[in-house]
Amino acid sequence: MKICVLTGAGVSAESGLSTYRDSGGTWDNYDPMVVASIQGWHSDPETVLSFYNGLRKRMAACKPNSAHLDIAALEKEHEVVVITQNVDDLHERAGSSHIIHLHGEATKIRPEDCFNDYDRFSEKKVKDIGYSEVKIGDKDGRGVQYRPHIVFFGEAVPKMDEAIKAVEEADVLLIVGTSLQVYPAASLYHYARYDAPVFIVDPADVSVPQRVVHIREKATNGLKTFISALKKLQ
Ligand code: APR
Repeated sequence: MKICVLTGAGVSAESGLSTYRDSGGTWDNYDPMVVASIQGWHSDPETVLSFYNGLRKRMAACKPNSAHLDIAALEKEHEVVVITQNVDDLHERAGSSHIIHLHGEATKIRPEDCFNDYDRFSEKKVKDIGYSEVKIGDKDGRGVQYRPHIVFFGEAVPKMDEAIKAVEEADVLLIVGTSLQVYPAASLYHYARYDAPVFIVDPADVSVPQRVVHIREKATNGLKTFISALKKLQ
């Protein structure tokens, strides 16, 4: 079967990376408009760089949890596309092979004058730096400052069409650990085929249509419940 998995910060919570909107979450400690918006980048790039340097450091110290691993293991029997809002690399490290990073990747940087609709969002200037730091003054060969390869608030989401296609083609849609508050990502599940079962794993209340099966568990246990439900669909 074709399975599409849409993940948010909740899938990485049990790996030790905090979510954004739970109490004590990232946006309780940082203003997203300062550290994760295009306006923030233009007014204080140093603060933005240090926010993502800190995130990379935390990513280096954690590892995929069993939810990431179970999602990757679905590939043994199914065609799987992971659409993640997360900028961490835990799906990659768990072994998932088809991942669409809707909001970019913290392990990558690019010169600040590229990857826009003018250069057709080409990835050729994107550079993988792993978990290392980027500072003001780190520039490419043309002398252009490097910035995080992240979709900041206020920027386009270039991979949205690719993500919509993956949802439309899916026989089953699984949503894990997202508050579904940030658009356009939050609109994706509306593209699921009418006959495709939709599941959402989240320990908190979720406001989704009646037809969505809410597995009210944390990601690690919720994936086990999903896998048993999936067996009944086959
Ligand atoms: N397992 C599963 N879900 C969990 C867990 C867990 N252990 N812990 C928390 N959750 C759920 C929360 O109940 C919440 O619904 O994960 C969700 C996290 O929601 P957010 O913090 O809003 O994160 P997310 O939905 O990924 O945010 C989307 O917002 O700020 C932007 O770009 C950022 O990609 C991010 C986007």
